Amino acid sequence: MEKLTTRYGSWALVTGEQFAHQLAAQGLNIVVVARRTERLKNLADGLAKQHNVEVRTVCVDLTADDALEHIDAATSDIEIGLLVLNAGAAVPGAFIKQSSETRLRNIRLNVQSPIELTHHFAGKMIPRKKGGVIFVSSMVGYTGSPYMASYAASKSFILQFARAFAIEMNEHSIDVLSLSPGATRTEMAQTEGADLDSLPMPWMDASRVASIGLKKIGRKPAVIAGKRNTAMTLMMRMMPRQLALKMFGKMMRGATDESLR
Ligand SMILES: NC(=O)c1ccc[n+]([C@@H]2O[C@H](COP(=O)([O-])OP(=O)(O)OC[C@H]3O[C@@H](n4cnc5c(N)ncnc54)[C@H](OP(=O)(O)O)[C@@H]3O)[C@@H](O)[C@H]2O)c1
Repeated sequence: MEKLTTRYGSWALVTGEQFAHQLAAQGLNIVVVARRTERLKNLADGLAKQHNVEVRTVCVDLTADDALEHIDAATSDIEIGLLVLNAGAAVPGAFIKQSSETRLRNIRLNVQSPIELTHHFAGKMIPRKKGGVIFVSSMVGYTGSPYMASYAASKSFILQFARAFAIEMNEHSIDVLSLSPGATRTEMAQTEGADLDSLPMPWMDASRVASIGLKKIGRKPAVIAGKRNTAMTLMMRMMPRQLALKMFGKMMRGATDESLR
C-alpha cells in the first residue's frame, strides 16, 4: 500500500488526539485541534521529538462560532491533505432530561463542526486532485440508541453523509471514510451520567481503532472497527429494528444514572 504521505501530502489535521501519534509515526506533519492548552502542548512536544515532524496546535472549542476562523488562520499557509474528524462527545441519559445547552453542543460538535471543516478543507483538496477525510462515527450510528438518542442520531448523520460524500468525491480522487468504533477505552468512555463499563461490549484500544481507520481509508467508504463489533452490528440489523432498539435501550437504561433516566 502506498505511503500516506504519497497519497495525501505532508500535512494532516486531526480534531481530538487519537490519530495524531500514528500519523506522525508515518511521517505526516500534524495540526491538532482540541480545547486543553497544556495537554495539546505536551502532545505537540512529544510528537515532534519522537517522530521528527512539524506539529501545530489550535486550542479551540469546536462548538464556538469562530472555531473555523481560528483553524483557517493556523493552516492558511499549508496544504492539509488528510482531515481526521475525531472529536466528539456522547451525551447519556433520557433526551427529555437534557438541557438545551447540552442538546445543542452535541449537535454542534458531532455534526456541524465536521460538516463545516469538511466543506472548508475538502474544497481545497479538489484542485490538487488528492486528499482524504476520515469521519469518526460510531456503531450506534448504524443501530440508534435509546438513552443516547441524540448522540446516536448525530453519528447516523455522519455515517450517511460520509457514504454519500465519498461518491461525490470519487471523481476528484479524494478518499472518504466513515470509521465506526464500538466501545473504546478513552476519556469519553468515562463520561459522566453512565457506567458504560458495565455494558457487555467488546472493548477496544483507541490506537487499534485509529490503525483500522488508517488502513481502510481509500479501500472502502465505511468500516466498523473490529470483527466482533462488525458481527454485532450485522446481527442487530438483521433483527426487527424496534426489537433491536428495545434490547439495546434496556442495556443503556441499566447503565445510565438513575437521575438521568
Ligand atoms: N470512546 C468510545 O467508546 C467511542 C465509541 C464510538 C465512537 N466514538 C467516537 O470516537 C471519537 C473520539 O472519541 P473518544 O472516545 O476518543 O473521546 P475522547 O478520548 O474523550 O477524545 C475526544 C477528543 O476530542 C477533543 N474534544 C472534545 N470536545 C471538543 C470540543 N468541543 N472542541 C475541541 N475538541 C474537543 C478532546 O480534547 P479536549 O477535551 O482537550 O478538547 C479529545 O482530544 C468521537 O467522535 C466519538 O463519538 C467513541
